Amino acid sequence: MIHPLRLVTVHPALIHFTIGALPIFVIAYGVAALYRSERWTLAGDVALAIGALLTLVAAAFGLVAFLTVGWPGGLELWRWLHFGLGIAMTVGLAIFATVRLLRRRPQVATGWPTFGIAAGLSAITLLTGWVGGDVLVYHGGIGVAAAGQGALSPPTGPARTPKNLVEAMAETRAAWGSASAVTARMLVRAPTDHDFATIAADGRRLQKVASWIADHGAATLPRPTLPVLEEHMHHGDHQAEAMHGHEREAVSGAPKTRADHLAEMASDFGALAAELTEAAEKRDLRATAERVGDLSGACADCHLELRWVKLR
Ligand code: HEC
Repeated sequence: MIHPLRLVTVHPALIHFTIGALPIFVIAYGVAALYRSERWTLAGDVALAIGALLTLVAAAFGLVAFLTVGWPGGLELWRWLHFGLGIAMTVGLAIFATVRLLRRRPQVATGWPTFGIAAGLSAITLLTGWVGGDVLVYHGGIGVAAAGQGALSPPTGPARTPKNLVEAMAETRAAWGSASAVTARMLVRAPTDHDFATIAADGRRLQKVASWIADHGAATLPRPTLPVLEEHMHHGDHQAEAMHGHEREAVSGAPKTRADHLAEMASDFGALAAELTEAAEKRDLRATAERVGDLSGACADCHLELRWVKLR
């Protein structure tokens, strides 16, 4: 379904007014300084005032988008960078425009300091736009329906050791998102060596983070010592293993905890990731597509059992 208007797309539409006004006031203030021209000063002031006013509206909708868009794990740095730079440029433009309007005198041209401020604010604005447009939308697919509203956004940098389970999930999601999106593109277009190499690298990242979760994930899992109830257990290989576990526990008497299940499912997940790596290294398209599906199933199992279950 195509919607004529979505709350999250008002911001990227309006922000083009800011981008349009930028070169006009920078050039106008530049020419004004060069020729001591009051008429070019007027042109700069008009473009700045209109640009700053529309930037306030665009920024307000930026805040709306920030609060309503679904943020996938793994883009925190860029999300907050865009937020911080956006506030800096909006406040900067608003103050600059207000000062210019208050200090406007007929017959007086602005000089190089005014041009310098205009150019500096433009640099911050362009950086903000690069983070928002290139990193968040074109790379990350934030707010883009075809990109699963950001769910499929690939990693933005090299793998780092997670500090907690949520960070490990951000890493997991990004590597899985990349493998899923690249597989989809291979099926629709044609597989390339580069695509398989990307997926093999994603598979290795998933193996690494899975083994981290198995070893350290329980430390930051909510309610790690609660037992997992029979009715919350989910299908797949894990259930078979868990059943065995339960039989064993029946003997030892201790029910399995959420922490145990996390470790168990994480090592199953790591084994699937290793199979994905192998399939991609062999450039086997069918096996690669199937392993991506298996991994998605494993996300579902673990989330149904440990993430979305109501804790009593
Ligand atoms: C071993 C179990 C397990 C597996 C496998 C797993 N997850 Fe998770 N995931 C969790 C748990 C538990 C949480 C909730 C953590 C919390 O709230 O502290 C979670 C949370 C998340 C979050 C939210 C992170 C945040 O910022 O709050 C995302 C995104 C996520 N998982 C994505 C995935 C994807 C995608 C996959 C499959 C590729 C996957 N996970 C596989 C257990 C798992």
